[in-house]
Amino acid sequence: MIVVKDLVRRYGTHTAVDRLSFTAQPGEIVGLLGPNGAGKTTTMRILTGFLPPTAGSVQVGGFDVQTDSLEVRRRVGYLPERVPVYPDMTVRGYVLFWARLRGVPRPAAAVEAVLKRFDLLDRQHKLVRSLSKGLRQRLGLAQALVHNPPVVILDEPTIGIDPGQVIEVREVVKSLRQEHTVLFSSHILSEVEQVCDRVVILHRGRMVAAGTPEVLGRQMKPGTHLYVALGGKAPAEIKKLLQKLDGVHTVREQGAGFVISSHGERDQRAAVTALSARHGLPLLELRPIELSLEDIFLTLLEKG
Ligand SMILES: Nc1ncnc2c1ncn2[C@@H]1O[C@H](COP(=O)(O)OP(=O)(O)OP(=O)(O)O)[C@@H](O)[C@H]1O
Ligand SMILES: [Mg+2]
Repeated sequence: MIVVKDLVRRYGTHTAVDRLSFTAQPGEIVGLLGPNGAGKTTTMRILTGFLPPTAGSVQVGGFDVQTDSLEVRRRVGYLPERVPVYPDMTVRGYVLFWARLRGVPRPAAAVEAVLKRFDLLDRQHKLVRSLSKGLRQRLGLAQALVHNPPVVILDEPTIGIDPGQVIEVREVVKSLRQEHTVLFSSHILSEVEQVCDRVVILHRGRMVAAGTPEVLGRQMKPGTHLYVALGGKAPAEIKKLLQKLDGVHTVREQGAGFVISSHGERDQRAAVTALSARHGLPLLELRPIELSLEDIFLTLLEKG
C-alpha cells in the first residue's frame, strides 16, 4: 500500500531523509520512530504529496506521489504535526470543509458519521477556538478520516495531550488496523511497541533498524549484550578499555557499570575476564542481558 524506495530529501545542503526505503502492507500499522529531527515529518509530508522528494520514489496505493499527487491525496488521510486551526469555524464546519475539499460524495452524512465516531457530535456547533488541545486532536483525526481513506498518516498524534487522551488516541489508532494502512510517528518507544505491527527506526534521516517489535527485541542473543561492572579505575578509563575489545561496537553506561554490545552472537565474557586480569581491575559483575526496545534504541543511536 505504501512503497518508499531510496527516498532522499535535502533542505539546501542538509539531508533530512537519506536513502530511506520501507513498505507498509494493507491493513498494517507501521510506526516511524525517531528522536527530534530524525526526518519523520519530512517523510510524512512527502508521502502525503505536500513536499516533493529530492530523489527516490514513493508510491501510495499504486500511485506515484510526484506524478499522481492528486490521486494520492484522495487516498490519504493526514493528521499533521501541528493541526492547522481555523479558529472561527465550527467543529462541524471544519470537518465539512475538508470533506468537500476531498470531493466526498455525501459530505453531510460522512461528517455526521465521523463526528459521532470521535464523540464530537454534541460539540459540533462549538467554535474550533474553544476546544481543548485533546479535543482539537480528536477533531484533527475526524478531519483525517472523513473521506474514509485507505491510508492514514498520523504525525505524532499523542504529543502534548494529557495522559487520558493519549490512551484514547492510541485506541483510535489501533482501531484503524485492517480497515486502513496506517503510518504513525512517535518518539516514544513503548507507544510504538504497543500500537504498531512493524517499526521503522529513523535517526538523522537514516533507517537504523526495522522489524516487528518482537524481532527488534530479539536482538539480544546470549553474549551479544553484556552487563559489566569493573572496579579499580575511573569509569571513563574503563569505558575506553571496553571499547577496545575486539568485536565490541557500543559501550553504554548503565548504573554502576556498562552495557557492552557486540557484533553477531559473539560472547565477550572470556574477553572481559581476561581484561580484568590483565589490568588488575576487580570484576564486580558480569552477566548477559536481554535488551528492552528502549535499550536497543539507545544502542542504535550511539552506533549511528
Ligand atoms: N523546512 C525546512 N527547512 C530546512 N530544514 C528543515 C525543514 N524542515 C525540516 N528541516 C530539518 O530536517 C531535519 C528533519 O526534520 P523533521 O521535521 O522531518 O524531523 P522529525 O523527525 O519530524 O522531528 P520532530 O520529532 O522534532 O518532529 C531536521 O534536521 C530539521 O531541522
Ligand atoms: Mg516531526
